[in-house]
Amino acid sequence: MKKIKAVVYGVGTMNSIITRMLLDKGVEIIGAISRSPAKVGKDLGELTGLGRQLGVAVSNDAAEVLSRGADIAVIAVNSYMSDAQEQLRLCAEHGVNAVTLSEEALYPWETSPEITAELDGIAKRTSVTLTGSGHQDSYWLNMVSMLMGTTHRIDTVLGQASWNVDDYGPELAREQQVGTTPEQFNTWLESASRPPTFGRNVLDALVADTGLTPVSITTTSRPVLATEPLPVASLGITVPVGHVLGFTDIDEIKTSEGPSFVFEMTGCVYRPDQADMNHWKIAGEPDVELSNGAVPTAMTTCTQLVNRIPDVINAQPGFITAEKLPRLRYRAFSLETYLS
Ligand SMILES: NC(=O)c1ccc[n+]([C@@H]2O[C@H](COP(=O)([O-])OP(=O)(O)OC[C@H]3O[C@@H](n4cnc5c(N)ncnc54)[C@H](OP(=O)(O)O)[C@@H]3O)[C@@H](O)[C@H]2O)c1
Repeated sequence: MKKIKAVVYGVGTMNSIITRMLLDKGVEIIGAISRSPAKVGKDLGELTGLGRQLGVAVSNDAAEVLSRGADIAVIAVNSYMSDAQEQLRLCAEHGVNAVTLSEEALYPWETSPEITAELDGIAKRTSVTLTGSGHQDSYWLNMVSMLMGTTHRIDTVLGQASWNVDDYGPELAREQQVGTTPEQFNTWLESASRPPTFGRNVLDALVADTGLTPVSITTTSRPVLATEPLPVASLGITVPVGHVLGFTDIDEIKTSEGPSFVFEMTGCVYRPDQADMNHWKIAGEPDVELSNGAVPTAMTTCTQLVNRIPDVINAQPGFITAEKLPRLRYRAFSLETYLS
């Protein structure tokens, strides 16, 4: 059986970890795409800290790299469909399946319906699958939907999670408004161009999975402000007291059938005594809870994307969201052995 051939799209913090995991799971990397002159032309092994050359030079010519016959592109570039559509469209047009970490791609049908429908159409035409995965896949969506499946009646679903912005690269730190003043934060928050919250897409996916009918969707956000100066490695800055370390979003979807869904999610630069958490509570018959302790969000982002690769290649063509894929499985063997 031939190895799976992959393209690494974006050579930043997440795809550096993912590169090692792909190689560990028997994937052949046939190309890598990045943007900055500091990376283009360099060897992927060197850039991702593997300590050995992989014979894969990083390129900024995405179309050429995607013409090399890859089975899948692993994309870790940006968060929102307005940006991510460029990479997803290029993959689909070149007949390459793609799994992306873009948070909105977890379930973009409600927040970016036109873009998603267009990508879905291209993917169907070229017979490939586009999917959003990452930490949300199991911890915020599929484990929660399995928990919902253990109940007879749901009144409310309440999720609470936090993650450290500085476990990721500069792309995410900028999106979390790290280092801005409260005034700048409020201007961004009130601007019409504010993208959807990551929590909104999670709740959209959970509600879609139940078939319930959303009647109202609200989001409130508040900044997390520094109470002591805190260094931010990904941006190379120190956030002064009173400036923004990130923010908390509280999303709520009410449904016409009764159940309501709330997700309170904090993404900020941590003080040394803070750790990630993931807690879900379902009130109904019976009340049930899910808690993962200090979940290592950055690592579980990468592991889930890699373990999803066979499911994405096996799936029907189109923009196929993660709640429609099979239950995520541990991959003990080389990934091509899971292809149907
Ligand atoms: N779903 C999840 O669970 C999850 C978890 C973690 C992160 N994420 C998301 O994944 C994205 C990547 O995270 P990260 O921490 O790896 O970010 P990062 O370290 O900032 O890396 C982003 C990479 O994308 C490259 N890039 C940006 N625009 C590009 C373009 N137009 N064409 C080609 N390459 C481009 C950058 O290239 P240069 O460096 O060459 O400029 C950089 O290598 C972020 O948006 C983050 O929010 C999602």
